[in-house]
Amino acid sequence: MKITSFDDYKQIYKQSVEQPEQFWEGVANTFQWRKKWDKVLEWNFTEPRVRWFDGAKLNISENCLDRNLEKLGDKPAIIWEPNDPTEDHRVLTYKQLHDKVCQFANVLKNNGAKKGDRICIYMPMVPELAIALLACARIGAIHSVVFGGFSAQSIADRIQDAECNIVITADGGFRGAKDIPLKSVIDDALVQCPSVKRVIVLTRTRTPVAMIKGRDVWWEDEVKKVETQGNVTCEAEEMEAEDMLFILYTSGSTGKPKGVVHTCGGYMVYAGYTFDTTFQYQPGEIFFCTADIGWITGHSYIVYGPLSQGATSLMFEGVPTWPDAGRFWDIVDKHKVNILYTAPTAIRSLMSFGDEPLKGKNLSTLTKLGSVGEPINEEAWHWFDEKIGHGKCPIADTWWQTENGGHMITPIAGVTPLKPGYASFPLPGVQPILVDEKGNEIEGNGVSGNLCIKFPWPGMLRTTYGDHERCRQTYFATYPGNYFTGDGCLRDEDGYYRITGRVDDVLNVSGHRIGTAEVENAINMHSSVVESAVVGYPHDIKGQGVYAFVVSPNQHGDAELARKDIMMTVARIIGAIAKPDKIQFVSGLPKTRSGKIMRRILRKIAEGDTSNLGDTSTLLDPGVVEEIKAGAL
Ligand code: WT7
Repeated sequence: MKITSFDDYKQIYKQSVEQPEQFWEGVANTFQWRKKWDKVLEWNFTEPRVRWFDGAKLNISENCLDRNLEKLGDKPAIIWEPNDPTEDHRVLTYKQLHDKVCQFANVLKNNGAKKGDRICIYMPMVPELAIALLACARIGAIHSVVFGGFSAQSIADRIQDAECNIVITADGGFRGAKDIPLKSVIDDALVQCPSVKRVIVLTRTRTPVAMIKGRDVWWEDEVKKVETQGNVTCEAEEMEAEDMLFILYTSGSTGKPKGVVHTCGGYMVYAGYTFDTTFQYQPGEIFFCTADIGWITGHSYIVYGPLSQGATSLMFEGVPTWPDAGRFWDIVDKHKVNILYTAPTAIRSLMSFGDEPLKGKNLSTLTKLGSVGEPINEEAWHWFDEKIGHGKCPIADTWWQTENGGHMITPIAGVTPLKPGYASFPLPGVQPILVDEKGNEIEGNGVSGNLCIKFPWPGMLRTTYGDHERCRQTYFATYPGNYFTGDGCLRDEDGYYRITGRVDDVLNVSGHRIGTAEVENAINMHSSVVESAVVGYPHDIKGQGVYAFVVSPNQHGDAELARKDIMMTVARIIGAIAKPDKIQFVSGLPKTRSGKIMRRILRKIAEGDTSNLGDTSTLLDPGVVEEIKAGAL
């Protein structure tokens, strides 16, 4: 949607709130449908039940590929930059991507995949990952992508929860100086997953792998088979708008990660609309989102958003600091990137290397910048603005969540007047409110509260896989009638929104969501641990770090070794991304007489702010606080 001025925005926003169905119908009409909807929207937030474009039929892969063939067939859909800069990059035109997706869709069918099946994808950042997603979508199979940093146990949990019958993986993946042994992790996971009948393995690192007869097949062999069968095209499955498109697991304040469910019609409309609107994408521009497809940002802004809009999406296999901290800038220079969408944690990390890695890098093609994942601090914002954008590129600080499908509150590039650190205003069609502890709406400006959304948007989650009650409890029960985000927020005197961070027990570490309860469970699985409490603390690069207070009276060997053992346990149970940054051994945790851990006190100690710990008189053993304070790391 082209919005040329801030006044334009205000007017369109107003219309979108007054007549939401008309607004979204207009947006939906810009996509390709096999059959249009009978009804734009049906909803209640009590069950909850939300249905967008009911009765419509479509396939998202047709919108991302087929409909672009005529005009953009020879234009690049995906530019892939490998981990190792000396390896050749790859370009896939829309025509080539279409062919490869059709081919792999046929591979999936040959291997028994059917509409409605759940398929787990555990792959490195190579074009075949995007091809795998689109091929699943093409045949109506539901993909569940698991980020490469998760452990075998985490993969097994996710596969079991969704009862996946196929896994798509690779022998290994390259990330910086490291090789990640993906297939061997999958082999460990599958010991616990009888539902999986087939594993399709792409060759990437040529690491030796176990290939189990009757279960494991090579991607390349399977593709050859469909070639010789002459199966070059693959008719896309006709999907209902509300059929499931994918599941993506995310952490909350309690229990195991939940499978957020997105559906074909609404998600497609929302990913495409937000991509187009936020970045004001112009034909021919090269868009580089630095996220991994293992997260929602990669789903929406490497694959579905850009491709549904006929954009060129640059996909990068590696990490920002390898072979050196100039890698992003080399990529921008080499591929003449126009729009760069990255995360505050990456910006802070690159900032710490100073100006040297920027020398000689031509960044003049950049016209727009974006940030996602956590609040961006002012220092990082200004560095991004001045050093990368040379003061001429608007920064879209996009606030949203896995559950939202796409951007919710964000500046529109070149339209919204910016304030550093502010996600600014809701996109047209999005209706945020702030509520107090009792759930009453806080009106007016210069206020803060808990951030809720009071009206549905097409990209919202429909359920949590296999457990609708959990979805209701988590998002719709705290403030009845509203979707609760879990974030605190302020709205300043000018009506600008600023997200202040999670108000629940969820941490945001380098833009990754980590549930404290999940980390505690993992730590408690270590044989010498009695109990533990995990809180976040401010971390210069990661935004938040993980601080664990651990009761472990019978350690063997020294404390340092015990810490490493606990780290290993967490890496085994959840994955390396959840490893605590600090582990403090304590003789007991501060608990109330009813046995509740007073996290408030632990948070203060972890933050290094022990001057005022508040009321500790209700503690069972106030003495333990002094000990913890004295031993703080
Ligand atoms: C949480 C969602 C969806 C993007 C990747 C993270 C925090 C995200 C911002 C931002 C302040 C942000 C929130 C949110 N968050 N973007 N621009 N400003 N906070 O997705 O793992 O689902 O995490 O990330 O706390 O609730 P996620």
